[in-house]
Amino acid sequence: MRLEQILFSQGFGTRHECRGLALQGRVLINGAVVEDPYQDINTENLVFTVDGVDWPYMEKAIVALNKPSGYECSRKPLHHPSVLSLLPAPLRTRGVQPVGRLDEDTTGLLILTDDGALIHRLTHPKKHVEKIYRITAKHPVTEVMRNNLLEGVLLDGEKEKVKADRIQCIDDRTFEMSITQGKYHQVKRMLAAVGNRVESLHRVTFGRYQLPEDLAPSKWRFIALEDLI
Ligand code: URA
Repeated sequence: MRLEQILFSQGFGTRHECRGLALQGRVLINGAVVEDPYQDINTENLVFTVDGVDWPYMEKAIVALNKPSGYECSRKPLHHPSVLSLLPAPLRTRGVQPVGRLDEDTTGLLILTDDGALIHRLTHPKKHVEKIYRITAKHPVTEVMRNNLLEGVLLDGEKEKVKADRIQCIDDRTFEMSITQGKYHQVKRMLAAVGNRVESLHRVTFGRYQLPEDLAPSKWRFIALEDLI
């Protein structure tokens, strides 16, 4: 693939800007400057460098972000900055967007991608992608509450019950709960439906991917599709 096309596809600006990056000697392939924007480059396992930063070539980008509190998942946020502001410009330019949403005060694993088909696959209700949340509740979580969550609760305005697939207690107010649906404010509404309240909510896993311990809040990394589903 031509260098100009590689840079363009990876979000480095307009074709004109991408040609400029090469012509100005700001792009390295295998450690050597390539000034010819039309040079043909093999994209297999390619890692290219722009202004000293290494980028793996990815036909579609999949990113794991450790979302901090105080960020909205919307492209056009209303009250807080967008999670997209935590990503570098090339990822925003190539149209990476969140797979589903986490509330502004929810922390933890957020997957983003520019692969529209993948977003559909991961968010479609029939695909039952598992998400695990760590929840701290306002009141002790009783056995009755746990059983109700596992049996299913009817949320306001919904026709069908939603349920927890698994619950693992950590202490009397903290537990991990896995769900496969993705209704609006689902976890908070589920806790409210059993007479409790979410004090803090943190997503630990999405599909097969677990938030890595060494990924600090606000940090992101590329991940492979095989790690996710
Ligand atoms: N459920 C919620 O209530 N909020 C989230 O951010 C995610 C799941």
